[in-house]
Amino acid sequence: MEAFFNKYLSKVKTTETILYTGHVTAVKGMMIESNGPRSVIGEICTIKMPYNNSTVLAEVMGFDGNTVKLMPYGSTAGIEIGCEIIASGHVLQVPVGKNLLGRVIDACGNPIDGKGSLEVTEYYPAIADAPNPISRKPNDKRILTGVRIIDSLFTCANGQRLGIFAGSGVGKSTLLSTIARNTNADINVIGLIGERGREVNDFIERDLGEEGMKRSVVIVATSDAPSIARLRAAYTTTAVAEYFRDQGKDVMLMMDNMTRFAHAQREIGLSAGEAPAQRGYPPSVFDMIPKLLERTGTNEKGSITAFYNVLVDGDDMDEPITDKVRGTLDGHIILSRKLAEQRHYPAIDPLKSISRLARRVTGTQTLKAVTKLSRLIAIYEDNREMIMAGVYAKGSSPEVDAAIDKHGAIEEFLCQEEYEHCTIEDTLQKLSVLTEIEIPEEEYEERPAAGRKTVAQLVHQHKEENVTSANETASAADSTGMANQISQISSAMQNQ
Ligand SMILES: Nc1ncnc2c1ncn2[C@@H]1O[C@H](COP(=O)(O)OP(=O)(O)O)[C@@H](O)[C@H]1O
Ligand SMILES: [Mg+2]
Repeated sequence: MEAFFNKYLSKVKTTETILYTGHVTAVKGMMIESNGPRSVIGEICTIKMPYNNSTVLAEVMGFDGNTVKLMPYGSTAGIEIGCEIIASGHVLQVPVGKNLLGRVIDACGNPIDGKGSLEVTEYYPAIADAPNPISRKPNDKRILTGVRIIDSLFTCANGQRLGIFAGSGVGKSTLLSTIARNTNADINVIGLIGERGREVNDFIERDLGEEGMKRSVVIVATSDAPSIARLRAAYTTTAVAEYFRDQGKDVMLMMDNMTRFAHAQREIGLSAGEAPAQRGYPPSVFDMIPKLLERTGTNEKGSITAFYNVLVDGDDMDEPITDKVRGTLDGHIILSRKLAEQRHYPAIDPLKSISRLARRVTGTQTLKAVTKLSRLIAIYEDNREMIMAGVYAKGSSPEVDAAIDKHGAIEEFLCQEEYEHCTIEDTLQKLSVLTEIEIPEEEYEERPAAGRKTVAQLVHQHKEENVTSANETASAADSTGMANQISQISSAMQNQ
C-alpha cells in the first residue's frame, strides 16, 4: 500500500507547481522574441497559437536584456504578437525504452510513423556529456558490418567511430543501409538528418525493410524541418543510443549526415549573431562536432559503434567539416566517385580509407593476409598507367606480376551487391584463398586478437626476460643495445 502512494508522493515532490509564462513580442527570421518566461538556455517552451488552435515547441537560444530568444521546432504559421509562451522547466529530453524499437520519431521524441503513442516512462537528456574516458570498456570485440571490404580491410571494433566520406550520389546512404541490415550489433539507432522526405521513406521501407526495422529506431528531421529540429535530431539519436548502451547492448549508431547537422548549426549561429569563419561556418560548429561525436564509443556497460556520413562539398577532402569530422573519429571510409562511375560498389577507396582500431580485433594470420592484399592493391595502382598502356613487360618484377595476376579476383572480392550479406567465415575464407595465407578458424571468432599481446605488454615481457642479462651487461650497454631491443620487439610482434 505504501509503495502505491510512494509513486504519487515522488511525483508531487518533483512537480513544478508554478507555471512560468511569457508573451511573443517579435518574430525576426527564424528567431522568436518574447517578454519572459523565466527560463534557462536550452529550456523547452510551448507556444500557444489561438489563431489556428495549435501549439509549437520552441527552445530558448539566448537573452537580450529582458527579451528571451527562442527557436521553434515546427511550423509557426499562426503565430502573432501576444501569443502565450509556457516554460516546461526542463531542457530537451528524449523518451526512451524498449518500445522505441521499430519506431520512427522526430527530434523531440514524438512518434511520426502513425503507430500510436510510445508508452514509455523514462527520459534521457538530449544534450549530455561524453562517458568518463577512464571508465570506458576496451574496444576488443569485432563488430561485423556484413560488408566484405570493411570486415576484412577495415575491421570495426565495438565502440569504434568511423566516418563515411563522399560527394553526393556516390553511395553513402546505400552503404549505411547495407550495414544496418547486416550488422551483428544488437540494435541500430539511425538518425536521418536533412534528407529529403522521399529518401527517408525509401530508407525505412525499401532499405531497412520489416526485418531491419524490428531492431532499429529511426530519428528523422527532413530537409524542410526548422534548423533547430535538424540540429537536435542528432542529439536525440545519440541519447537513444546511450539508453540502449546503458542496458548493456552493443549499439550501432548511424548518422546520415553530419554535413546537414553542421549546416543547421551554421544557420542558427549566424541568425544568433555569430561571425562566419571558415567557409561561412561560425566557430560554434567546430566546437559542437567533437562534443557530439565523443558521446558514442564504449562506456562501462555497453558500446555504441558509430558510422557518421559526411557529404563532402565539391569532393574537396580538405573542406572544414570533412577535416574536422575526420580528425575526431577512429577511422574513415572514403568513397570514390571514379569507382562509382565504373559501377564498382561499394565504391570504397581501399588505399585512402583507414580503420584505426582494426589491429585490435583482427587475428594474426588475418592481419598478414590483409597486409598482403593491401600491398597487391597498392602495387597495381602504382603501375596502373604502365599496365594499361601495355608498357609493362611481364617478368620485370615478380610483385607486379602477382598484382596483375590477382587483379580480377581482388576486384571481385572488393565488390558486393547491395542486398548481398557477406558472413565473416565467407569473407575470411575468400581472403585466405586470394592471398594464399592460411587463416585458422579461431580467427572467425568475435575476439580474434584476444591472445595477442599489446606493444606495451611485449616491451614489459621483453624487459622481464632480459633483466638478468641486462644487469650483467649493463656496463657494456650502448645505443646499439637499444636498437637491438627495438628490432627484437618488432620481430616478436611480426611473429605473433
Ligand atoms: N551498392 C550499390 N549497388 C548498386 N548501386 C548503388 C550502390 N550504392 C549506390 N548505388 C547507386 O548510387 C545511387 C546513389 O546512392 P546513395 O546511397 O543515395 O548516395 P549518397 O547517399 O552518397 O548521396 C543509388 O541510387 C544507386 O543507384
Ligand atoms: Mg544520401
